[in-house]
Amino acid sequence: MASNSSVYHHTSFVLFVALILCLSSPSVAAVPSEELEIAISLLRVRGRALFANAITTSDILFDLLSAESLTLLVPTDAMLFDLDMRYSLPMYISTLRLHALPLRLTISELRSLPNASSVPTFLPSHSLLLTKPSSSDSVYLDGVEVYLPRLFYDRHIAVHGLANILPLSRSRWTDIENRAFALPPIVDSPAYSPSPRSTWWISPSPEDYIEFFGSTPAEPPRIGEVPVSQPPLEEDLIVGDGDSWINGF
Ligand SMILES: *[C@@H]1O[C@H](CO)[C@@H](O)[C@H](O)[C@H]1NC(C)=O
Repeated sequence: MASNSSVYHHTSFVLFVALILCLSSPSVAAVPSEELEIAISLLRVRGRALFANAITTSDILFDLLSAESLTLLVPTDAMLFDLDMRYSLPMYISTLRLHALPLRLTISELRSLPNASSVPTFLPSHSLLLTKPSSSDSVYLDGVEVYLPRLFYDRHIAVHGLANILPLSRSRWTDIENRAFALPPIVDSPAYSPSPRSTWWISPSPEDYIEFFGSTPAEPPRIGEVPVSQPPLEEDLIVGDGDSWINGF
């Protein structure tokens, strides 16, 4: 009799705790930072440190942590390094944003999406076109194969490796550029004196960028190299549209 009663009490206690947990958990849960930290340390040891660093030193990080779940599409360090050599910082950051999706998609979920689906990214109003060749069960996003699926899975995060880098097309860049000029300058660092060019620096602060590339053999960051009045880098855009990516390394 005593033992029955204790079991009964135990059960009601468990139910009570479960109820409290349900009531206290916020209806919109964000990605826990510990989970993203684990994903990022994993990328560092898997030879994709540049992407990991780029994310943690830019304000993309805050967007990632405020999402309910996310997918990272990770190019290799060599691809990102090459991108830095060819692109201005704003184009670089916008390209990075294309590589993060504001929802968690496992490889099987990606495969089960209909052909020619549109997948949202952290680059505002820019989505990726998902295609599946009928000959294999590979998945392509904007023509780039999801080459190393399941690099990391956790409750809120999925990470896949790409076979190449997702190009920022000419039309996308023109669109972003127009938006950037419509926005007031956002300056992260108090030490950074705003100039007409500061409209370009949506993110991150120049200091973050120096820190990020400080240890690489890269030339000094080309901060402010692109004057506001100049049309966007024609060559860079052509590179993004063509297959020079492959020839680059
Ligand atoms: C998906 O679409 C592409 C191009 O539109 C086509 O080549 C491919 O065969 C389609 N895949 C399937 C599984 O139907």
